[in-house]
Amino acid sequence: MAEPIKLVRVPTLKTVADFRNHIASLGIDLPCEDAIVSGSASPLAQPCDGVTINGKKIGNRFAIQPMEGWDGTNTGGVSDDVIRRWQRFGESGAKLIYGGEAMAVRADGRANPNQLIINEENKSGLAKIRDTLSSAHCSRYGSTDDLVIGFQLTHSGRFCKPNDKFRMEPRVAYRHPILDAKFKVTSDQQVWTDAEIEQLIQNYVQAAKIAADVGADFVDIKHCHGYLLHEFLSAHTRPGKYGGSFENRTRILSEIISGIRANGNKIEIGVRLSAFDFVPFKPDAALSRPGKLGPGVPEDFSHCLPYRYAFSVNQGNPIEYDLTETFQFIEMCRQLGVKIVNLSAGSPYYNPHIQRPAIYPPSDGYQPPEDPLVGVAWQINVVRQIKQRVSSSSSDLQNKFGQRSSPSPMPVPIRSGVEERARERSSPSPPVEERVGERRPFSPIIVGTGYSYLQEYLPQVAQYVVRNGWTDIVGLGRMVLAYPEILADAVSKGTLATKSICRTFSDCTTAPRNGMISGCYPLDKYYSAKPEFQKLKEVKKAVGA
Ligand SMILES: Cc1cc2nc3c(=O)[nH]c(=O)nc-3n(C[C@H](O)[C@H](O)[C@H](O)COP(=O)(O)O)c2cc1C
Ligand code: SF4
Repeated sequence: MAEPIKLVRVPTLKTVADFRNHIASLGIDLPCEDAIVSGSASPLAQPCDGVTINGKKIGNRFAIQPMEGWDGTNTGGVSDDVIRRWQRFGESGAKLIYGGEAMAVRADGRANPNQLIINEENKSGLAKIRDTLSSAHCSRYGSTDDLVIGFQLTHSGRFCKPNDKFRMEPRVAYRHPILDAKFKVTSDQQVWTDAEIEQLIQNYVQAAKIAADVGADFVDIKHCHGYLLHEFLSAHTRPGKYGGSFENRTRILSEIISGIRANGNKIEIGVRLSAFDFVPFKPDAALSRPGKLGPGVPEDFSHCLPYRYAFSVNQGNPIEYDLTETFQFIEMCRQLGVKIVNLSAGSPYYNPHIQRPAIYPPSDGYQPPEDPLVGVAWQINVVRQIKQRVSSSSSDLQNKFGQRSSPSPMPVPIRSGVEERARERSSPSPPVEERVGERRPFSPIIVGTGYSYLQEYLPQVAQYVVRNGWTDIVGLGRMVLAYPEILADAVSKGTLATKSICRTFSDCTTAPRNGMISGCYPLDKYYSAKPEFQKLKEVKKAVGA
């Protein structure tokens, strides 16, 4: 029997030269600067010139990515654990809080029974977490004039568990030949009707109003990770006005934005997108043994070619991506006045090695099929391609660092009439260019993802990609649960607190998958002290993780 691949752990790479040699041995493109740059010379300390969000220029080049909570009240309200997490987001020094955590636009759209719900009842709690974050940031960094805070709006679709942590209640865009069995979709009754979608769009519009009322600078309309609106992007086989053509598959977003504007709500809009996807992966049975699942291999897709069941996948070979529609979708976002686009990949539920590269998978997950740095490089390089496409009109970043990024222009409007329709439906709001104001032609701010696995080398890679215009902003997920101030430390001290670095143990994913709240149990004392930590250890021991 073949052995699973032996992985090199990042902390064993003692110098930048070691890191570069390892990257070279993997045959991937992952650039890294020679050293951490501190002070005002750091690319990460520069404000984000160009587009403003709610009149504010984002004050530096790192962001906190949204991370779903499993610790709200049973009615989706804010708890002390949620408040503490948002406080730490504020203390991180990041000037962009991209969404905070996914908030369900209606109760049945929750991914867990303790996810926040953005509704009237929970308004005061939502105001409190926003204010807590803002005050924490102000008391440590002196100003919030350049701090931008968004709320992420979601419906969990295929992954809904609104009432019981262990009971799936999926609602899907279309029947899926591989995922249906995995997520207990057994009947066409679980597919949304067009009339139900119209109601759902109103839920998003109402949620955006609440976000504006409680002082969020923008709302993210979540289109990633296999959740509902991401799934609609690949609804090729769905009949009717929300399936089939590109225009139909993206109609929900344009109708949500039109609805928000028609409601007189001027809140800014962001979109988080899985920029590419693959087929679902599963543990290799031949390499699995009791207590340890094998490395990930693709599910058999031979019976469903061309593969029309994922967005931005190569339909002929769905373990490769095809960015044609990604570019088209981002151009559409631009035309709809979306000012910020946050790029991710895949899904934590069916191909986590591309979405959340980790050396230690969650207890129910397959072992990495390759060095996790390969997944990091995929995300960084896809974002680079997208940034090049959108940056034809944004020469400011390149000028700042004296670099040229050889941008290629965005294609001319793909969907004639999109902008016109959006304008018609949103009469209270001025045309896109007037709304944007600061830049003609306007191009959205790009946020990149997947940096946590870089560990010691995160600042040096982040510096490179920002300096060279591969992304506007570097977004941090898991690292922030372990070490919120990592990039603030890099910028202010030029060094990192090595003991605080996230090692991708995946406890923050294993815990909620086993009914416990999420958090960095191994490195954050607040969670190590909780009784759940002991339970988590037992769960991991039982499965040999
Ligand atoms: C515990 C946890 C919860 C997450 N919840 C969300 C979420 O609510 N919305 C979202 O868009 N991404 C979510 N993500 C994905 C992260 O935003 C991020 O894309 C991912 O962790 C990869 O970035 P990283 O390598 O910096 O961790 C979550 C990730 C983790 C670990
Ligand atoms: S539990 Fe902590 S160390 Fe492990 S992946 Fe999550 S944040 Fe990182």
